[in-house]
Amino acid sequence: MSCRRDRGSLVIVLDPYETTFRSHSEQQTLRLAERLAAVLVPGDVLALEGELGTGKTVFVRGIARGLGILGPLRSPSFVVVSHLKGRLELFHVDAYRLSEPEELLQLGFEGILEADGIVAVEWADRVASVLPARRLQIRIVHLDPGRQIQIKDLGLNLSQRPGVEALENPGD
Ligand SMILES: Nc1ncnc2c1ncn2[C@@H]1O[C@H](COP(=O)(O)OP(=O)(O)OP(=O)(O)O)[C@@H](O)[C@H]1O
Ligand SMILES: [Mg+2]
Repeated sequence: MSCRRDRGSLVIVLDPYETTFRSHSEQQTLRLAERLAAVLVPGDVLALEGELGTGKTVFVRGIARGLGILGPLRSPSFVVVSHLKGRLELFHVDAYRLSEPEELLQLGFEGILEADGIVAVEWADRVASVLPARRLQIRIVHLDPGRQIQIKDLGLNLSQRPGVEALENPGD
């Protein structure tokens, strides 16, 4: 655990980094993901879990915005992988329609992991066996009202990265 000052207030950063937010709107989820994008580095894998309509695609849209990707980001329902370019490349994977994890490998997933971009995987729990152990787990659940968004660092050393404390700042 470390304590740092962020704009005058004391922020506690857990090591390994783990935090839970409540989002009251799509905009709040977008802004949280945008702040997270600022601390991402090439090769980071984001594993998004959550039931239908919890906001996984919204979250990835926020990541895209934070990476400076301006075009629209759609839920890639029939396209399993979308490739977008910003400050870093973003590979947006939707595993919903895959019948088994190995299908992701057949679609060139290993090459994607080696491409030094950001890899964001929706329905990550369905393909967990082919995901790298080092990843950021993002679990979104429905609340009434809003969403709970839990971010858990599995080996990326996020707590040591500059700017991570800004994530704790609601900023809106
Ligand atoms: N706090 C919130 N955060 C994110 N989305 C929200 C929130 N509140 C309401 N929404 C709405 O929930 C929907 C989330 O849709 P989204 O496509 O991102 O979900 P998803 O988890 O990707 O679904 P799927 O499992 O179909 O891929 C959007 O219509 C969004 O406006
Ligand atoms: Mg989606």
